[in-house]
Amino acid sequence: MLQARASSSGGRRGPPGSDTLKKAFVKSYGCQMNAYDAARMADVLGAQGYAATESVEEADVVVLNTCHIREKAAEKVFSEVGRLRVLKAERAQAGLDTRIVVAGCVAQAEGREILARTPAVDVVVGPQSYHRLPELLAESHKRRVVDTEFPIEDKFDHLPARRTQGVTGFLTVQEGCDKFCAFCVVPYTRGAEVSRSVAAIRAEAEALVAGGVREITLIGQNVNAYHGAGGDGAPASLAGLMDALGTIPGLLRLRYTTSHPNDMADDLIAAHADNPLLMPYLHLPVQSGSDRVLQAMNRRHTGDAYRRLIARIREARPDIALSSDFIVGFPGETEPEFEETMRLVAEIGFASAFSFKYSPRPGTPAAEREDAVPEAVKTERLARLQGLLDAQRHAFNQSTVGQVVDVLIEKTGRHPGQVAGKTPHLQAVQLDAPASTIGTILAVRIVRYGSNSLFGERVADAAAAA
Ligand code: 5AD
Ligand code: SF4
Repeated sequence: MLQARASSSGGRRGPPGSDTLKKAFVKSYGCQMNAYDAARMADVLGAQGYAATESVEEADVVVLNTCHIREKAAEKVFSEVGRLRVLKAERAQAGLDTRIVVAGCVAQAEGREILARTPAVDVVVGPQSYHRLPELLAESHKRRVVDTEFPIEDKFDHLPARRTQGVTGFLTVQEGCDKFCAFCVVPYTRGAEVSRSVAAIRAEAEALVAGGVREITLIGQNVNAYHGAGGDGAPASLAGLMDALGTIPGLLRLRYTTSHPNDMADDLIAAHADNPLLMPYLHLPVQSGSDRVLQAMNRRHTGDAYRRLIARIREARPDIALSSDFIVGFPGETEPEFEETMRLVAEIGFASAFSFKYSPRPGTPAAEREDAVPEAVKTERLARLQGLLDAQRHAFNQSTVGQVVDVLIEKTGRHPGQVAGKTPHLQAVQLDAPASTIGTILAVRIVRYGSNSLFGERVADAAAAA
């Protein structure tokens, strides 16, 4: 769960001493795409004069930005709305109005159902329409509203300037997916693949950098299928887009997520060798190591095709850190098929990974299947897979101890006098340094790995101590 703190996105302050200032609380679940959308919704509300609040009790507008990819997503939304209903009634007794907005992929998939089942909800808005939030909120005083259209207009043209600030920022470059993996709701909730133009993305990136962002992660459900209009009007590839962003003064790092193996184009692989801003880290979901399961999942590649691809990427960038997504217990998965996944993981070696038990999503082809793997078997397979993945992650982090790495300092650390940042391989590092180093890259010697974090010291400090 991620919280979009609209306060950090600079919700506009009212006149000093004003206690009539409207407040918005935005809560986001799920992927980076949702975190980005939540921040942009906070921007939309901020432009309407709503200050951000982290306390739901004082919010005049509550937005739940829902995710549909995890199990029982809709049920979780209904129970959250149940809690908000009580709050709304309490505030009403005090003469305060509260608007409840359900946004995101559950809103898209279950819009009418949400209105029918939860009278406390005022607005249901899908991921493509949230630029219309102010109108929808105004309209909701007359009637409850649902907007889950895939509008022709581009929501990005209607969003206010970005206010979200920090050292790292997400930037949506592509939305939707045409792949239709048999288990996945995304093609239904987020719709077909659409890419933004290079010019629009560059303008947003420049605004982020002007606001202090030093590392941008380009995001999209299928980001490496990016094909937005370039300067000459012809489609640009993701590698071309990253070249165009590489010339923004002050931008220090680029990353992208999430990718499909079949869209790892030659120029994107080459970018991992040639683009100095692109970090040596790649999240490339494989889902399974069994060719039969991959085919049943409609992934359209084999385990060996993935292995060959990884070999080419490693040739281009030998130190690349790999990450992936896995699903265990897809309908019909046998024990030897699961072991194929274990073999693939053992062969490739991942620096980090996400792994899930399969669970059916209504409306997807896999949900129709009747050869479900028993829950206990899924649990046992997931534990085995996670055991291996955890061991690989720890070994990878441990191998960094003793090295000097570039750390982009993002924020103050856990203890006074400490700051925290990330290595090129996306590992979290804590070290002693003044807060004035936030936003800069420091050379750091890693001295210890513990409780999922690396601890280091500035190389200049280390030399002084020697
Ligand atoms: N069951 C389990 N995991 C799923 N994912 C997507 N749909 C399902 C599902 N029905 C996982 C995939 C995907 C990640 C974002 O979520 O591994 O890559
Ligand atoms: Fe879902 Fe990713 Fe497959 Fe698209 S490529 S259908 S987003 S799992």
